[in-house]
Amino acid sequence: MQADADVRAVTAKIAGDYNSVPYKPLSKGSPGLDPALLFGLAGVYGDFPMRRDMDVLDLGCGSGGQLLRLGGLTTGRILGVDISRVACDDAIRQCKPLGSRCAIHCADLLDFDLATLGQFDLIYLLGVYFVVPDAVQKRLLEVIAACLKPGGVAVISYYTGEVWRQYDAMRKTVHAVVDRTTAPAEQIKAARRCLQDMAAAPGQKAMTTRIITHALAGDETALFHEIMGEVHAHATTTAFEEALAPAGIHFLNWLQPGPFASPDPKARAAAADRGSQGGYLYGVFGKYDPALPADWSKISWITGLRRAGASAYGIPVFRDTAASGTVEVMNTSTAAALDVLARGPVAWTDIQKALAAQPAGLAYLAAVKRDFLTYWQAGQITPLAGAA
Ligand SMILES: C[S@@+](CC[C@H](N)C(=O)[O-])C[C@H]1O[C@@H](n2cnc3c(N)ncnc32)[C@H](O)[C@@H]1O
Repeated sequence: MQADADVRAVTAKIAGDYNSVPYKPLSKGSPGLDPALLFGLAGVYGDFPMRRDMDVLDLGCGSGGQLLRLGGLTTGRILGVDISRVACDDAIRQCKPLGSRCAIHCADLLDFDLATLGQFDLIYLLGVYFVVPDAVQKRLLEVIAACLKPGGVAVISYYTGEVWRQYDAMRKTVHAVVDRTTAPAEQIKAARRCLQDMAAAPGQKAMTTRIITHALAGDETALFHEIMGEVHAHATTTAFEEALAPAGIHFLNWLQPGPFASPDPKARAAAADRGSQGGYLYGVFGKYDPALPADWSKISWITGLRRAGASAYGIPVFRDTAASGTVEVMNTSTAAALDVLARGPVAWTDIQKALAAQPAGLAYLAAVKRDFLTYWQAGQITPLAGAA
């Protein structure tokens, strides 16, 4: 009972903070989180058909920007849940054009009845997991486990690894000097002063300086909630995989993909935790059977790589039009596939047809796939889903 009262006191304080300082950096939603990108990413690993009439849930929806954006891209049910009355009123106002297919519930996620929530094709949990206490974190994963449809995708943003540890140390220093009982504007001012002092301190790690500089450059409301807030928790990709796997939901990759090519989601999650400094990451999870081979038949690819000639050794060279630089493409089948992609997004099935008509046929298809994964990780090629 006491534990529950303690958690309620924390969630009430968090709700009060978000009421007094509304959080709006993503108030127009993020194109980087559009279903075509998420279901495209998921389609690299399994069967994730993207339906235009998909149902979407946003847990901790804030002022509803993501929901409004999704409402314009889909025709199904749109549901947002948030504990902050001020955020919900904003979301209700913003999402009014979506009419009756959109609902915003003002509630603590701890009180939400899983039996009545329904099932969703896409669940967002953005900017929430790390600002809530353990009991709410556990609940959020229960909601995803219970409410994601087969073939559905969930995105969870979280802090992890060394970056989180450095962030946490910065946060503790600020808490030691800023009086958190003063008005939010005073806290923001004092926190900025403290961060500026820290930024000017000599001899600190480059990563610490980057984190402090990033915090100072960011939105003030984010600074208030993330640095002065009650909770700032870290997570591991492996822990998400372990919690969600019993519901058939598995880690796919990060939105900005890591080098996690293994078909085994547990191995991908472990590689994610081992192989990087961490950071603030968007983990993409999907409900699918990892034992089934991924056939890529539902995805297209798009690239900014354009053939620009050949090296002195006759190796095809492609220019990256989205960034500066060039790429030498050793595999001539991959080079042919990239030429096909120069006309815009092309379905993997059409790429295969084009390769079958080449002299090498489909002999090097597995190598083309490996190359695509490498270029994807380098940000030079992107998988996309098209709506059925
Ligand atoms: C950093 S904001 C993120 C808002 C939005 N998802 C975005 O990305 O812009 C965190 C949100 O989580 C909500 N929240 C925190 N604890 C909650 C709880 N226990 N139940 C429901 N919402 C909660 C807050 O009110 C706030 O709107």
